[in-house]
Amino acid sequence: METIEAINTRRSIRHFKDEAIPDNVLKQILKAGCCAPSAHNSKPWKFVVLKGDKKDELGDMFLSISKEERYKEYTGFYVNRLLKYAGKMVKDAPVIVTVFNNGSFCESAGKYFRQSKKEALHIMEVQSIAAAIENMLLACHDRGLGAVWLGVPLLMPQEFIEDFFETKNELMAVIPMGYPLKTRLIEKKVDLDEHIVY
Ligand SMILES: Cc1cc2nc3c(=O)[nH]c(=O)nc-3n(C[C@H](O)[C@H](O)[C@H](O)COP(=O)(O)O)c2cc1C
Repeated sequence: METIEAINTRRSIRHFKDEAIPDNVLKQILKAGCCAPSAHNSKPWKFVVLKGDKKDELGDMFLSISKEERYKEYTGFYVNRLLKYAGKMVKDAPVIVTVFNNGSFCESAGKYFRQSKKEALHIMEVQSIAAAIENMLLACHDRGLGAVWLGVPLLMPQEFIEDFFETKNELMAVIPMGYPLKTRLIEKKVDLDEHIVY
């Protein structure tokens, strides 16, 4: 697929066929993520790939948090609903790629900057990781797979993320991926004038 065509026709896919992703295809997707540009070539991303029971366990965790009254202080009604859908997507998809920030850019570059500039370093880490995520979404689309970038799990209580993944790294995204149940053919409408000034 042409790059421009891939960019213009990619859509979020939230329902998947019960079909495994071949290992070589999954590797191509993960490599595309690792080929993203990053601040000072720091590659501050860490991908945790989940399949089978562990993946379903994550989906069940989203579903149980979304239901429980005592977690409303973290979630709120609307977020509860989104987390419930996220749980269903995680259980439905054959593979989940969870994306973490390992903090390596802040750690290596932090010593050269004043405190007031450290937030900018963190922004650059997040930007680098967002580029890796978009590369993976485009690579999925190119290979006939569908995927969706889930941000709502970031709103879960931090201790759940730390316990489940046994890491203090910052969760950036959860990406369910698989062969799409239906292909979305709705053409994206883009109003360039709304976003661009010459
Ligand atoms: C940072 C970020 C967070 C997102 N979080 C969610 C999410 O939690 N749940 C969801 O269903 N979609 C999520 N999305 C997908 C957006 O809803 C989707 O990209 C947007 O509606 C545009 O649709 P498209 O991807 O088909 O072009 C997220 C996208 C981004 C970039």
